[in-house]
Amino acid sequence: MAKINDNYLKLKAGYLFPEIGRRVRAFAAANPEAKVIRLGIGDVTRPLAPAVIKAFHEAVDDLATVENFAGYGPEQGYDWLINAIIEKSYKPLGVDLKTEEMFVSDGSKCDCANILDIFALDNVVAIGDPVYPVYNDTNVMIGRTGEADEKGHYKGIVYLPCTEENGFIPALPTGKVDIIYLCFPNNPTGTVASKAELKKWVDYALANDAVIFYDAAYEAFITDPSIPHSIYEVEGAKKCAIEFRSFSKTAGFTGVRCGLVVVPEEVMGTTESGEKYSFNKLWLRRTTTKFNGASYPVQKAAAAVYSEEGWKQNKEIIDYYMENARIIREGLAAAGLTVFGGVNAPYIWLKTPDGLSSWDFFDKLLNECNVVGTPGSGFGPAGEGYFRLSAFGNRDNVIEAVERIKKNLK
Ligand code: MLT
Repeated sequence: MAKINDNYLKLKAGYLFPEIGRRVRAFAAANPEAKVIRLGIGDVTRPLAPAVIKAFHEAVDDLATVENFAGYGPEQGYDWLINAIIEKSYKPLGVDLKTEEMFVSDGSKCDCANILDIFALDNVVAIGDPVYPVYNDTNVMIGRTGEADEKGHYKGIVYLPCTEENGFIPALPTGKVDIIYLCFPNNPTGTVASKAELKKWVDYALANDAVIFYDAAYEAFITDPSIPHSIYEVEGAKKCAIEFRSFSKTAGFTGVRCGLVVVPEEVMGTTESGEKYSFNKLWLRRTTTKFNGASYPVQKAAAAVYSEEGWKQNKEIIDYYMENARIIREGLAAAGLTVFGGVNAPYIWLKTPDGLSSWDFFDKLLNECNVVGTPGSGFGPAGEGYFRLSAFGNRDNVIEAVERIKKNLK
């Protein structure tokens, strides 16, 4: 009989969002009259920008003609998309990238998981707690860890607590680690990191020959001009950081699927025998072997995000979500809750009232307000006693959810 990958059995629970979905479906089935408002998973609700839709349609029409038909594209993405991203998203930050350093994909979640393919299993990995669960679970799945302890921390991973005391920004590891996951603006806490903060991490990585996985999926939601959008705004980062970006939240592509990874040529690792080797070369090899590129219409739609019209229209959509974030943040603070995030990020991280556990607060909100959020403990043990609300709902629902919560907490 074929053997399974036993590492999967080490996973403590099902993936967070399907578990929430299951509970909400059960509640809705038992309470068909309840108008449930979903502010749990960070799924967008605004339609794609008109310029993006137009490009999408045109690309589909291309596929209907002999002249413009497109079959397999370059595995790492079309140059016209990569160059548009570099010009519009990186050049203005003072970051120069080569076309060969960027890889377009079908989404950032897969990229964050797949990148592990090109790193040896005996690398020591550091991740925050709480954290986007994909970082943790994919390291378990690939076999980098032992079993979880009673808290839910897996043996072999270095967990960096992100607490109210440290402003939800972890301290540098005390020992040597080889890979560090950072996510700013942060999911789930909505925290951002200043350039000086990121410099500390880059300096650590350079001093320890470590690689930073920098998840910048939410960079478009930064409103404070002093906050860096890319880790490459920090000197030296091109030698030690791989950056992930996503069109999901930035351009409403959660259902369309497109993301990108930047692997600068200068980011090096060592072979078993101690020679230096470029991760860019390995990632190219992996991509060309295991992936056939994001689809042509999706890449055309993604390119339209960088057109003058598309850029402006998307900005309006982002502003809409950030106004939602303000409504949630200020509404809940007025109701007496302690809230974080929601200023440069589309997530509001709140302390549960009366010392309730994260899941108890989830049940309370669902049962008494018919509002769905995400329990902080689902992002790691240090998230216990916290709760996340997403700003991606539609405005009327957001206003109503805040009103319901305020009334309930009175
Ligand atoms: C979240 O709610 O944390 C995100 O939507 C998950 C994701 O981007 O995969």
